[in-house]
Order: sequence, then structure tokens, then C-alpha cells
Amino acid sequence: MHPLRKPLLLKHFLLLAVIFAFTPAAFSQSKAKVKTSAPAKGLNPVIENKITALLAKMTIDEKVGQLNQYSSDKVVTGPITNSGNKLQDVKDGKIGSLLNVRGVDYTRQWQDAAMQSRLKIPLLFGLDVIHGYRTTFPIPLAEAASWDLDAIQLSARIAAEEASASGIHWTFAPMVDLARDPRWGRVMEGAGEDPFLGSAIARARVIGFQGKGLGNTDAVMACVKHFAAYGAAIGGRDYNSVDMSLRNLWEFYLPPFKAAAEAGAATFMNSFNDLNGTPASASKYLQTDILKSKWGFKGFVVSDWGSIREMVAHGYAKDTYEAADQAIHAGNDMDMEGRAYNNNLAKLVKDGKVSMAIVDEAVRRVLRKKYELGLFDDPYKFSNAEREKQTLNKQSFIDAERDVARKSMVLLKNQNQLLPLDKNKTVALIGPLVKSEADMKGFWSVDWEGKDHSVTLFEGMEAAGAKVNYAKGCDVSDTSRAGFAEAVKTAMKADVVVMAVGETAVMSGEAKSRSDITLPGVQEELIKAIQATGKPVVVLIMAGRPLVFNWTADHVPAIVYTWWLGNEAGNAIADVLYGKYNPSGKLPMTFPQSVGQVPIYYNYLNTGRPSKDDAFSKYSSGYLDITKRPKYAFGYGLSYTKFEYSDLKLSKNDMRKAEEITVSFTIKNTGKYAGEEVAQLYLQDAVSQPVRPVKELKGFKKLMLQPGESKTVSFVIDKDKLSFYNNDLQWITQPGKFNVFIGSASDDIRLQKSFNLLD
Ligand code: NOJ
Repeated sequence: MHPLRKPLLLKHFLLLAVIFAFTPAAFSQSKAKVKTSAPAKGLNPVIENKITALLAKMTIDEKVGQLNQYSSDKVVTGPITNSGNKLQDVKDGKIGSLLNVRGVDYTRQWQDAAMQSRLKIPLLFGLDVIHGYRTTFPIPLAEAASWDLDAIQLSARIAAEEASASGIHWTFAPMVDLARDPRWGRVMEGAGEDPFLGSAIARARVIGFQGKGLGNTDAVMACVKHFAAYGAAIGGRDYNSVDMSLRNLWEFYLPPFKAAAEAGAATFMNSFNDLNGTPASASKYLQTDILKSKWGFKGFVVSDWGSIREMVAHGYAKDTYEAADQAIHAGNDMDMEGRAYNNNLAKLVKDGKVSMAIVDEAVRRVLRKKYELGLFDDPYKFSNAEREKQTLNKQSFIDAERDVARKSMVLLKNQNQLLPLDKNKTVALIGPLVKSEADMKGFWSVDWEGKDHSVTLFEGMEAAGAKVNYAKGCDVSDTSRAGFAEAVKTAMKADVVVMAVGETAVMSGEAKSRSDITLPGVQEELIKAIQATGKPVVVLIMAGRPLVFNWTADHVPAIVYTWWLGNEAGNAIADVLYGKYNPSGKLPMTFPQSVGQVPIYYNYLNTGRPSKDDAFSKYSSGYLDITKRPKYAFGYGLSYTKFEYSDLKLSKNDMRKAEEITVSFTIKNTGKYAGEEVAQLYLQDAVSQPVRPVKELKGFKKLMLQPGESKTVSFVIDKDKLSFYNNDLQWITQPGKFNVFIGSASDDIRLQKSFNLLD
């Protein structure tokens, strides 16, 4: 046989069958034409055949209904344009999914209405379960600082157990948008700036949410968002345009999405931004070519809130008719709260602009998930009052939350071992966030209408047996110093001062971009006044993004970045302050010394005129007024103990592409506290076309060491870790020298060696 002529295999017949199944004729409503065909790889033939049969019974209006998602009025997370009579719409089969619903009773009411519709197709219920449901966990950026994948997965698992017990099928998480700009308020919802760490966390969170798989009553569908490049909004302004090279997109921004798709994420959400001139919801390149074709994604894509109709405001479509046409052809399956499909899709089909096959493919993807969840067998499967009562806020969940919260804090400074504190010393608790409860929960927490409680710092310290005095000093955004005198008086009476400053929970999150990311109001002035008392000062910074606080960083002896830690915040912080837990967090995002350095990230490309880190030199790439160094680098975080790195070995000096190199080294705990260290592996391709970053994270391990204990750590480097996208978007490796850096932070490299990749 001619070498290029392959035999006709079974798979070719299957392919033909699938192609046939996707032709308009095969999707006609006529019963005579109903076909059962072999589904594409990875699909359940029983389900696919059921969908084919159901599609054959559906009118075009019922099909459009499945692609239509409305928000209930119970929770509002965006601009609802026209409420209408949604209950009647459900009964008429005009709605396939509701978002912003929760609770067994409430979801049952809606499902009852769906069961009155002609075809009794169950509704899908979605909610933004971003960092916990009833048990509020730390914000995702804080959890990312733990670099603890088990903890992150557990947090998502618990969120899913609670949400699914409360009638919810679907969470709009994880947000896996890479972010290099702390002005962008949504950095709080992601995993920071690194594609490797971000991919690992994306995987952990998808697995956490989906548990043992859809169909189990404790699994909710993950929704990976926002596809794509939403985190690169120009100027850090939410919803703004994104303009980037495709190589940048593939190399940095897409990997966490790919990792989430590979982990089996059930759904994706597109994004508000345009990418290089095309609104993401109109992007066939993203949704069809990359996600559905190249990555083989079998779930469905939901728009972001109204992002289809927003093509009109973008100036991409002249009306929602045109916008709907663009979106459905691009591969956007469901329309969230946009009414673009609802108002236009049937007409687009009638006018011959959109084929029935395209509509059917989108409906098929939505129905597939409803079948996989088991909703056709039991539409009320997730709405069980007894299970809801028993599951929410279980003590084991609260304990897990406290543990994740402890792991999420980052110790930025600890001069003269001021921390941990001595229990016998009296503590002055000062600052606007000492007694704040609401702010501990963070932006995306579920609102329990006052029926929920977060442990404040004050309560956590009291519960830990601390002898405390309190003064507020000022509010977060105050311009007045009226409270300073009392705060100073309170500080004077204590042995040590712990200050809680930062942002309120509504200062970071969606549409919460800020141009000034210094500590708001007069908070840093308050810190100066308290520091002037001469008392030892510990500053806790509670925020949803990296802030700039240079004076504090340079003058105050101890600083802990606590982010927003959730319901157990106060207890977790007390655990850290008193040494019940030795901090182990590392920054997942670079902290600038000035907003003028933004975007700032550790894995940058060298220039032809690199400046010295610490000083400006003429004709070099830096700033006249400050160094180019960040205030705190990616991967940075201290411990109460010290770790010594030694004995770096590479298993070989030359590596062929098919081979691997093992990197090993020793870490010793040389201090007096047991503690965890996150050992970080960075690689650099020394000479390459196109050029490569100065270093890239390619591995990390978090390990616990007792005082005096040593452990050997090893990483395996394979070809994949040395590969990258060239300008033609080919995934390539280039032979040559590679530098291996082992560090405790991206700017704290302890060991270094090189090897050669051979042809
Ligand atoms: C808009 C946000 O961008 C998205 O992340 C969220 O899931 C939806 N609103 C629904 O609340």
C-alpha cells in the first residue's frame, strides 16, 4: 500500500458518522430524520442519543430557551435590564438556566416551574461561589499565596459540598486570569501573575469543585473564566481592551485555561474585553478554534453578563441581532443575562443567517451537562432540605477554613524576631479593621443577610487569651486624624501594638480598579504616629490586592500580609501572631514600590540595556526616580525559622531532548521553630530566538521541617519544561545552555547551576 494511503479504519467511519450527525438535515425536527450516531471521543453514547432524541422534539423557541440564562432578583451581580415575568418564562421553556439563585426552597420553586414546561427540561442553577459558600474561605489570591495545592483543592471541595447541598449545580469559578497589574480590582479573584503556579491552582480548584465527577450530588460544575486575557486590561481598568501578541497570549495567559480544560472543567465563561479588536464573545479563534477544537473541550461556553449585547457598545455589532449572530458562530453557547439570543436567535435562523445545526450544537452542549449532572433523572437531586441543614457550616469545614487562612498569610518583615508574640505581653489593637467583620469576608463572599459571622481580629485575639486594649484611630478612607490621639494613648499603655489596616472588602473585586494603590486615607499617617511612640509595632495588612506602603515597609519592624481571610480570619491571625502556626505563605504577585512600575512581574524579558537592580545608571532601562526593583518579589515570604539550601546536583550536564534531568538539593531548618518552606525551581533559556524571560517558575515543593531537620528535594526537568512558543506559535525547544535556579523567592536564589540541551 502507498505509505500515504492509510487503511479505512473504524475511526474514519465514526468520524463520518459524526460529520453526518452535525449536518442540518440530521438536526431537523422531523421525527423521521432522528439519527442515533456514534458520539465523538470521550462522550457517553447513551447521553448523546438521548440528546438527539430530545432535540428532535424541540421547537426553535425551546432550543433558544436552553441557551438563555437569566439572573434571579435574589442576588444581583450585574445590571439587570428587564426583569419581566421570569417564572412564566420558565414555564414556557424560555429559560435554560438561572444564575444568582441559592437555597433548597428557592431552587425548588424554580424547578417546579420548569417541570410545568412542555418538555420538562430541568433548569441549571448557577452562582458565584468564589471563595466558599456558607463557610467563607480566604479570597483566591490569598489562597494562592499558600502555594498549598491540597489546601486550595480542599477549599473548593468544601465550597462545592455546601453549594450543591443548597440546590446549586454550577459555580462561576475558578477565575484563572493571569494578572500583572494590581490596579485591576479583580486580582483578588485569581492566582496572581505566574502561568505555572496559576495552572497548578486552576487544576486543583477544578478538581475540588467537581469532586468525583458530575453526577455525584456533592459535585458542582466549574466554570473557568474569563476566556481570555481579561487580566491584561489596559491601565488596569476593569472591562477594558486587551492588546497583546499571540505569543504572549499562548505563553502566559492561556496555560491556566488549558490546565483547567484538561482537568475536565465542565464549562467556560468568555470575557468582557476585546482581544486585539475582537470582543471575546465574538472570538471564534478563542472559543471554537482553541477551546473546542484544539483542546477538545466538550462542555459549553457561557457569555459573561451581557457580554454578547455589549458588542454593540464595543462598536463591533450594530445591534443585538448582529451581536447574537457573531456570538453563536464564534462558539458562545449560552447568553448570560444578555437577552441577545432570546430576542434574536430564532429570527436569525428564520432569516437563514444561522443554521439549525449551529443552534443544535450549542443546545447539545448545554443538555449534555444537564444529563451528566443527573437532572433529567431527578431535577431536584440537589435540592434536599435535610442535606442542606446537615452540610452548611459543619465544624470540620470551619476548622479547614481556619487552617487554609493560616496558610494564606505572608510574613513580609520580622525584624529582631518581634513575632511570634509573647502571650504575657499586653497588646494594643489599633486600626480601622480590628473590629471589622464584613471586610474579613472579602468581595465575592455570599451574602447571608446578617446571619453569618466572621471572627474579627479583636475576637480572635481575645479568644487566644491576649490581654488587649483597642482604639480605632481612623476609618479606612478617613482624611481626619481626630482619632490619632486616643490611639497613641492606647499604644502607650501596651507592651506591643498590633495594627490592622488595608482596604475594605468593596475596594477590590469586579469594577473595583484603583489608580492609587497606596494604603487608603490617613492609615499610613496613623502607622507613623503609633511607630513614633517607640512601642514595637506589628502591622497587619488586609487587602484584596498588592498595595504600596513604602514607609511602613521601611520603618515598622513586623508586617504580615493577611489579605481577606474569611470567616475564621481573627482566629487564624491570632494563631500566626502567637506562633501556633508558623507562616509559610509566599507572594503569588509582585508588589511594586510605586504604581508607576506597573505592570510589574518577575518573568520579564531582559532589555539590551539592563540596569542594575539597585541604582539608575545612564543609558540603561530603569527609572530616574526609583530603582526598577519591586518592593516585594514574586515568591517572597518569610518564616519564623530559617532555611538553608545546599548541595545542588544535576543528574547530568548534557541532556538529549528525549531525556530528563533530575535536580536535587538539601534544605535544612536552621532555626528554632518547626516550619514549612516553599522551595522554588526557576529555569532560564540563556540564548534563544525569540528571547526568553530572565527566569520562569517550573516547579515548587512545600515541605515541613522540624528544627535542625534536613530534607532532600528533587525536581525532574523534561523537554516540556524547556519548551516555548515561537512567533509562529509552534511549541519548540532550542538546544543550548539552560540556567537552573533554586530559591526561596524569585529574587532570593540560593543555588544555581547550568546544563546543555543537546540537539
Ligand atoms: C460578571 C463577572 O465578570 C463574572 O465573573 C461573574 O461570574 C458574573 N458577573 C456573574 O455574576
